[in-house]
Amino acid sequence: MSTFLPETILNWLPDAIQLFYLVATGFFIRGVKLLNSPGTARKGNQFAAIGMLIGVLVTLFDQDIVEFELIVGGIVIGGLIGLLLAKKVQMTAMPELVAVFNGFGGAASALVAWGELARNPDILSFDTTGLVSIGLSVFIGALTFTGSFIAFGKLSGFISGNAITFPGLNVINIGAMIATLGLIGYFAYDPSNPTLFWVILGISLLIGVTSVIPIGGADMPVVISLLNSYSGIAAAMAGFVLQNNLLIVSGALVGAAGLILTNIMCKAMNRSLLNVIFGSFGAAAGGPGASGNGDKTVRETSAEDLAIQVAYASKVVIVPGYGLAVAQAQHIVKEVATKLESRGVQVKYGIHPVAGRMPGHMNVLLAEADVPYDLLKDMDEINPEFATTDVVLIIGANDVVNPLAKTDPTGPIYGMPILNVDEAKRTIVFKRSLSVGYAGIDNPLFYAEKNQMFFGDAKKSLQALNEALNEV
Ligand code: TAP
Repeated sequence: MSTFLPETILNWLPDAIQLFYLVATGFFIRGVKLLNSPGTARKGNQFAAIGMLIGVLVTLFDQDIVEFELIVGGIVIGGLIGLLLAKKVQMTAMPELVAVFNGFGGAASALVAWGELARNPDILSFDTTGLVSIGLSVFIGALTFTGSFIAFGKLSGFISGNAITFPGLNVINIGAMIATLGLIGYFAYDPSNPTLFWVILGISLLIGVTSVIPIGGADMPVVISLLNSYSGIAAAMAGFVLQNNLLIVSGALVGAAGLILTNIMCKAMNRSLLNVIFGSFGAAAGGPGASGNGDKTVRETSAEDLAIQVAYASKVVIVPGYGLAVAQAQHIVKEVATKLESRGVQVKYGIHPVAGRMPGHMNVLLAEADVPYDLLKDMDEINPEFATTDVVLIIGANDVVNPLAKTDPTGPIYGMPILNVDEAKRTIVFKRSLSVGYAGIDNPLFYAEKNQMFFGDAKKSLQALNEALNEV
């Protein structure tokens, strides 16, 4: 397309293109920075989207190989699919969607590398850097592709959430990765045999499957975050293949952001990344149907009784968890909170970093219901406040308030920092049964003297409470 432009413009075009790539990079970095807080996250997304638009438009001038129509066609079809997915996807299915995005990202990088090889008839014309970049792009891209789709299958139930493994699989996986890196090195040294490229691709696709399949369903969100990082690294490698600075920078940003997020998630669960990858934790995902301890007794409450307790409290803290997302109870929780505030009750929200099933899950849900950001308190901020709290409403949360994390060294969540709700005067747990949470263990909080259970679907229970508050 650039050949249609006047000569003077063509002369300064390469410099202008690099300048615009720099501007787009600035938008990406500013976007990531704004994603730092829920209050500015929407703006951050818009900044990054503008950066992407600049990147795509400038790239149209930076190439003269692909037909212009093909690119526009790709943008229109891809944009429509993205729009449809964004409108249709349930909040609870977000991790699955991200897994699919990562998978396609990885596949795209591998395809770019393959495309560069395919369109260049003389493979010996590539320098060593180019060949290593092609090899790494295919390796990381292909394993991200198959690994992400296994993660998607595990989360959506197509594949068992159990850790499917056998003794020695981890050693085989590590061996296969080292061997593939060796093959990439040899491919860069002597590219005369193109079969090697296909061998690297085949092994990489297999590694994606065999390295994700032994990880339990409970750890899939962490794996997805790690694969997200891989997809960024693969994109950066593809940037080296194409010698496109913007792709290198944006890939590196995704790679680094994914790694930081993975680290935050592991820390919040008191697990190491190696333990997640090789530990086969959460061999069977818990959830409805798994049973709690039926021998002990719990105290139940009703909407009417609870309405009196909260209406006359001076401070109420709401702790949302995965069940709030399942029940889609975010709007009614806001309604109840507003009603309490209008009676002079101070209401805050205590957000655990791994509540729900994806990072920021609760923040996103509550933002959807227009809960003011300043009322959302991180764990470190809200924990000192429980001692002065009258009632804590624990809505669909379980593991993140489980005291066994502090007391049972043999338990799977031992050492995970939790919300210290037991320090409050009264706790109320909204859930449908005594079933376990994701970690698959019973929760002594349910049987504690200060606790009452409000059994039922969180949305229906909150609706009942909302109505009962009208009578108080
Ligand atoms: P969970 O411990 O998983 O407990 C959720 C509870 O919600 C269940 O016990 C369930 O009990 C209840 N529930 C489900 N549907 C409900 C409904 N419609 N109405 C009311 N209650 C409902 O959730 P949590 O406390 O948010 O903890 C999150 C867990 O996920 C942690 O173990 C964490 O490590 C893990 N995890 C999180 C992440 C991220 S990034 N968030 C990543 C990986 C792992 P009933 O069936 O009895 O209703």
